[in-house]
Amino acid sequence: GLAVGSVAIAGGLFHRHGDGTAPAKLVAERLAPGESVTFTYPGDADRATAIRLRDGTLVAYSSVCTHLACAVLWRADRGTEGELLCPCHEGVFDARTGAVTAGPPPRPLPKVLLEERADGIYAIGTQRSGQA
Ligand code: FES
Repeated sequence: GLAVGSVAIAGGLFHRHGDGTAPAKLVAERLAPGESVTFTYPGDADRATAIRLRDGTLVAYSSVCTHLACAVLWRADRGTEGELLCPCHEGVFDARTGAVTAGPPPRPLPKVLLEERADGIYAIGTQRSGQA
């Protein structure tokens, strides 16, 4: 079974926030297809990027490269759905999954769980380190 406060979704086990362990965080009021926003979460320490893919899917990942922790950047013009690029050693991550597609990063980018509410998009959970 899962620990209280965690939720399993496709791709890993997440700490769920907004249940007293940590507040949900407003990421953006809205994101149109092809738009992204960078936000800090949790505790204004960890950077993350939320992306509305062109097919309408909303995704978010840690912006901290799993190689040596440089900040990854979303590039909408790369691939069919954009890519997350790390400028330090040319690490590349798939924007749809966070998976490594090129370069030295050893693990996918950790995911951030988002929830769309009436007043905006909230970050509600973070993927546990070490879960892919
Ligand atoms: Fe990102 Fe090396 S720190 S590829």
